[in-house]
Amino acid sequence: MGTKAARKATPDVIQIKPTRMDFAFDANQVPDHWAFNDPFCTHFMGTLSTLFPVGERFFVDSVRALREHAGENVTAKDISGFIGQEAMHSLEHVSMNHMLEAKGLPALRAEKFTLGLLNLGRRILTKRQQLAVTVALEHFTGIIANRLLTDTDTMNNLSNEMRPIWMWHAIEETEHKAVAFDLYKQVPGNNYAERVVFQVLATVILAAVVSAFQLQFMARDKQLFNLRSWAFGLNKLFGRNGILSNLTSEYLDFFKPDFHPWDHENSALVAYWREKLEGEVAKAA
Ligand SMILES: [Fe+2]
Ligand SMILES: [Fe+2]
Repeated sequence: MGTKAARKATPDVIQIKPTRMDFAFDANQVPDHWAFNDPFCTHFMGTLSTLFPVGERFFVDSVRALREHAGENVTAKDISGFIGQEAMHSLEHVSMNHMLEAKGLPALRAEKFTLGLLNLGRRILTKRQQLAVTVALEHFTGIIANRLLTDTDTMNNLSNEMRPIWMWHAIEETEHKAVAFDLYKQVPGNNYAERVVFQVLATVILAAVVSAFQLQFMARDKQLFNLRSWAFGLNKLFGRNGILSNLTSEYLDFFKPDFHPWDHENSALVAYWREKLEGEVAKAA
């Protein structure tokens, strides 16, 4: 390179390798309120889980459709790693979502709704725009993963059965957080305006979908009027030091013209948590 500017790409210490986990979730073993012993928090994370199987398939398809543009900052190997990781995440969240369904929650209906929305995107958006949607949503998974791995409050308050899948998923989202972004940057015609427009659209739609699912999950669990839980959960998300309120500045960094996902250098977290993961898996068994 020879220039002073840091190369904007995935750090060399990061390996993007899919791992198969084969998690088994037993609806009779997993507590009903497996996050913070609280309905709101549990259903918020459950709702996110219902987005993953079809969402990550969309990510995979959008990246695969343009993989010929792999190059200097994102290699064909990175792309294969990304596809493999997201495919595994889909599978594991499918089994988690079946457990939620077995608990009487409308998980499969939520998946179906999301699929309809994404299929609409497949019909009306160009390949590059679909990749821009993936880039936008991967920004969310990247910053939320960072948060889960940095502030252990959430991780510590998941039941033993549920901790490993979130830990593993957050690790791998960190590892591959720049793949879709770097690929997008190599697709001819990519531009800042498109990238930010799709970030705004994705944010609005995601917020609407998650809110609607949250209401449905709370209702099905007969917790719709559990004001204590709403207050507790909303405070966890949006209060002082809340999970989402703390993400504001990282979220907004996306709107800088020279943004790159690894501007938030957190590669040390990956090694640390990879090592912990095995023990957590053993504890869950
Ligand atoms: Fe994922
Ligand atoms: Fe991802």
